[in-house]
Amino acid sequence: MNVLVVGGGGREHALVMKIHESDKADKIYCVPGNGGISRYAECISGIKATDIEGVIETAKKVSADLVVVAPDDPLVMGMVDELNKEGFATFGPNKAAAIIEGSKVFSKELMKKYDIPTAGYEVFSSAVEAVNYIKEKNEYPTVIKADGLALGKGVIIAQNFTEAEDAVKSIMEDKIFGESGSKIVIEEFLTGPEVSVLCFTDGKTIKPMISSMDHKRALDGDKGLNTGGMGTIAPNPYYTEEIAKECMETIFKPTIEAMNKEGRTFKGCLYFGLMITPKGPKVIEYNCRFGDPETQVVLPLLDTDIIDIMMAIYNDKLDTVNVRWKNEAAACVVMASGGYPTKYETGKVINGLDERGQVSGAFVYHAGSKYENGDFLTAGGRVLNVTATGKNLKEAIDQSYTCVKKISFENHHFRTDIGARALASDN
Ligand code: AMP
Ligand code: GLY
Repeated sequence: MNVLVVGGGGREHALVMKIHESDKADKIYCVPGNGGISRYAECISGIKATDIEGVIETAKKVSADLVVVAPDDPLVMGMVDELNKEGFATFGPNKAAAIIEGSKVFSKELMKKYDIPTAGYEVFSSAVEAVNYIKEKNEYPTVIKADGLALGKGVIIAQNFTEAEDAVKSIMEDKIFGESGSKIVIEEFLTGPEVSVLCFTDGKTIKPMISSMDHKRALDGDKGLNTGGMGTIAPNPYYTEEIAKECMETIFKPTIEAMNKEGRTFKGCLYFGLMITPKGPKVIEYNCRFGDPETQVVLPLLDTDIIDIMMAIYNDKLDTVNVRWKNEAAACVVMASGGYPTKYETGKVINGLDERGQVSGAFVYHAGSKYENGDFLTAGGRVLNVTATGKNLKEAIDQSYTCVKKISFENHHFRTDIGARALASDN
């Protein structure tokens, strides 16, 4: 089969490498891809991941038998619908279903209507009303979320009235997230460990993947600014078997059924961002796609051919596939450019990688790299996702840090405590 992957970060590299393991994959293509991906797939770099026409043209040109749409924006824009109209098999939800991530107002109303546990909330389309509500409620911290997509940055946790008022104004009046901020959700602040659970689903059957944990802050000890993710571990020790059972009954199945009842059957990977609160697991967010960098620790542990799973979902037959997992753990450490998540330079030579962009003992997923004349150069804020597996979390974490030491580029930085807190809680 010819497989076309849409996207160009570490998540897509992990997908490409997993697809590469399949006997069924003949040729793999990626739009736009990146330097690391180009060693495993043919990259069509002139086309953006959001260019629906361009992706359809490419799918025709390469006679794609399966198109995997990985990022949120093309899914929310309806790329899958357009590919299906042209007769291509796809992996990813259609536009009607991708709204579960595309609109926080939609997802909150869905959860309220179908009694799915989540933080209490109110929706506002007027900044004045929102600010009045915050003043009246007078409870901090309070959580303010832009309705639409905002590159993962649309959530502000305000510690006092001034911060909350500033957040409302910058989202609704200054439009720092554009039209995504026409409406906002103000919600109750929840506490507890966070767990990411990615699930394969065809809308009838739901098969959760191994749980994981992201580390969103830039610096050790969960300090510094929010980022797209500085590292991940899988499995997540806070996600016990008991909690997994509860999530299946109170969250996963009800969500799939709710989407069916709304006429928005979800097919693909549905990501549940959960918080294990003192009152039980609650949904923090839904994503309509594989998480990044969660995918980088989840897919190395998958022991079933990913093409079989993706095609079964496309054909509404996920119930016929036995999705197996390795009894191991994985850890991913993100190596970022100096200055990320604010200002950083690119074009630095990356030392220590072999000709495939790898080091021995790890999977090096490239998030932002370029391949030029035999060299890998930095090309983004998050550059490499160094992922190792091991018999247990400690082994996986130690091994990924051992491999991080083999790689260097000017001004690189990484967190030194990925998985440390989870490990401590597990002992
Ligand atoms: P999101 O972009 O929705 O994943 O939110 C970013 C981060 O904000 C989450 O990973 C949580 O750490 C935090 N967060 C979001 N909603 C809440 C909430 N209701 N209570 C506490 N923390 C939250
Ligand atoms: N790691 C969080 C996300 O993919 O949105």
